[in-house]
Amino acid sequence: MTHTDEQSFGRILISSRSLDEYRAMFNLSEADLERRILDCPSGAAGFAAEVSHRGGDVTGCDVAFFEDGVGGVAAQAVAEAERGNQYVRDHRDQYRWTFFADPDEHNRQRRQAAERFAAHARRAPESYVAGRLPALPFADNDFELTLSSHLLFSYAVDLDYDFHLRAILELMRVTAGELRVFPLVAIGESTRYPDLDALLAQLRAHDIDGRIADVSYEFQAGGDQMLVCRHTTK
Ligand SMILES: C[S@@+](CC[C@H](N)C(=O)[O-])C[C@H]1O[C@@H](n2cnc3c(N)ncnc32)[C@H](O)[C@@H]1O
Repeated sequence: MTHTDEQSFGRILISSRSLDEYRAMFNLSEADLERRILDCPSGAAGFAAEVSHRGGDVTGCDVAFFEDGVGGVAAQAVAEAERGNQYVRDHRDQYRWTFFADPDEHNRQRRQAAERFAAHARRAPESYVAGRLPALPFADNDFELTLSSHLLFSYAVDLDYDFHLRAILELMRVTAGELRVFPLVAIGESTRYPDLDALLAQLRAHDIDGRIADVSYEFQAGGDQMLVCRHTTK
């Protein structure tokens, strides 16, 4: 199945996850939240808004900011949250209802994150930068911690192995510390990306150590692990 099939999302969803969801997906500690963070792709996540409200430093980067501008993405964030919620309702059995009690709570939390993103994007548009993986508009080692959720591995049906490799190398180029990628399963699947071992071997050849870590969050069934990458030579 491709994501242009009727049953699926259609075009890639511009989703809105909250700080609480990011904390759980990426095992984020208080110390992590004090690092200079890149969120790519950020979509319309409320993460940057909430961390910045606490005095932290997050840059959101997404291809959608080219097409629609930050203001345009802000204007459609709530509608995109509704689109994501409709998918979840239609595919309820693919999800574990522990982080969210039910689809209504999912809708409430994602809408709230979208609204936070929209308000922050209007107030601080400089926090959001247009960028298209696998080429980002940032200097080498610009960030201490990079978070990447729900593009790589999630859309493995549409994005080939070479894209995954080049995107991770690029995310690592701009990262001095650590890259965390979540989840490791494709939408509609519950088993890990099949070419992960080959990818890890190729990353090692580029002096990048990639490890799989369990996280205390599982919404999509089977999506309870992240990939953590570090440079071995820096
Ligand atoms: C499902 S959202 C994930 C957003 C956010 N990380 C979250 O978890 O809510 C996927 C995002 O990937 C963005 N995207 C798709 N292709 C991209 C690319 N080549 N480079 C950067 N962003 C891309 C889309 O615009 C969309 O906002």
